[in-house]
Amino acid sequence: MTTTPIEQSRKLVTEIPGPLSRELATRRRAAVSSAVSVGLEVYIDRAEGAILVDVDGNHLIDLGSGIAVASVGHADPGVVAAVTGQVARFTHTCFMVTPYPGYVELCEKLAEVTPGDHEKKSALFNSGAEAVENAIKIARVHTGRKAVVAFDHAYHGRTNLTMALTAKVQPYKQGFGPFAPEVYRMPMAYPYRWPTGPENCAEEAFAQFVSQVHVQVGEENLAAVILEPIQGEGGFIVPAPGFVARLAQWCTEHGIVFIADEVQTGFCRTGDWFACEHEGVVPDLIATAKALGGGLPIAAVTGRAEIMDAPVVGGLGGTYGGNPVSCAAALAAIETMTGNDLAGRARLIGQELEQRLSRLAAEFPQIGEVRGRGAMMAIELVRPDGSKTPDAALTKAVLAGCARRGLVALGCGTYGNVIRMLPPLVIEPALLAEALDILAESFTEAVG
Ligand SMILES: Cc1ncc(COP(=O)(O)O)c(C=O)c1O
Repeated sequence: MTTTPIEQSRKLVTEIPGPLSRELATRRRAAVSSAVSVGLEVYIDRAEGAILVDVDGNHLIDLGSGIAVASVGHADPGVVAAVTGQVARFTHTCFMVTPYPGYVELCEKLAEVTPGDHEKKSALFNSGAEAVENAIKIARVHTGRKAVVAFDHAYHGRTNLTMALTAKVQPYKQGFGPFAPEVYRMPMAYPYRWPTGPENCAEEAFAQFVSQVHVQVGEENLAAVILEPIQGEGGFIVPAPGFVARLAQWCTEHGIVFIADEVQTGFCRTGDWFACEHEGVVPDLIATAKALGGGLPIAAVTGRAEIMDAPVVGGLGGTYGGNPVSCAAALAAIETMTGNDLAGRARLIGQELEQRLSRLAAEFPQIGEVRGRGAMMAIELVRPDGSKTPDAALTKAVLAGCARRGLVALGCGTYGNVIRMLPPLVIEPALLAEALDILAESFTEAVG
């Protein structure tokens, strides 16, 4: 089936949400659990590049990429061809029953693109949470230890173990306990909110980490330290320079597995294949998902061969893990990232975002900080009185203004006061500029 290309421009033909979306919203409320929340209730009919077309015929600009998934753009021709070709050949055998080449090829590719030139192996799963959970399982078997350290503001998923690793209770953990044991939380090197100032942040956060692990956990009991090299849901927090490298080095010194959760940051998003690379860090294990599949569900744990081989034969797997259609999509997505230099595109997007957002911040004292890297940038909104008090209400109002104007943007942050930009890396410069105009307009309106 061929479809006409979608013009990469915004076009509103109804109010947002339109009548057909509102009708579907009524049906949703009757049929879908209210626990599954919806950000902007426009129902999508088609998508291409950085444009979403809803059922009412509105063309919306996508600054969220379905939470960092559509990095290669919606309906990337390579991904579409690979997926349709694979669907026609076969859709499932279960790799653990009768394997197929795509799974092996993808693991080879992951060994190539992930940081470090040591011998690497991978195992494939279905979601970011599943990858993180398996990375912890692997680290525990490898070390023979049980404890795991995660950080303030961390988000690692919604399964039982990953809920325990995730910091924020509302809404992710509310009422869902008891949580998995042997998870310890340490301070994050969050420069903007570090009590003694950003210049002391890396040093002091690392010192606190070392002393609290020693006192509360015991290095000899610690299997793994897991960290997002730029925290995603927690508010696009870029750890103070040097913090991640010191943690990784300390883990090596103590025989502890350093796990980078690059589920949100991975695959060119930050201007390199992986965010760890900006700090020259080579993780022992790396958890990936989201952009890996170009829109199809797939996740991976990739790491040092001797660690990945630690569990017993048959210890890792799952019915759908590394599904052949998802493997085909992932191989095609990686090819698009390489062939179109999407890391380079992410760096250019980052320059534009930084410039425009900094200009906005100079105008509005409600923007406490502009931060991020590459095509993963955010603004943190605070009261304009120097107190850094988070302003979640303003954040909501700005996002609502964007939505009304046909711009899909996402909030995040422990305090619900961060607006994050995660455009498809193929977004055209004029469309990105228009998106940022809309953001500025919505900001001006919300501030009043
Ligand atoms: C850093 C990080 N880890 C893990 C996850 C969980 O991934 P999934 O929703 O695919 O389970 C997410 C999802 O947002 C994430 O951002």
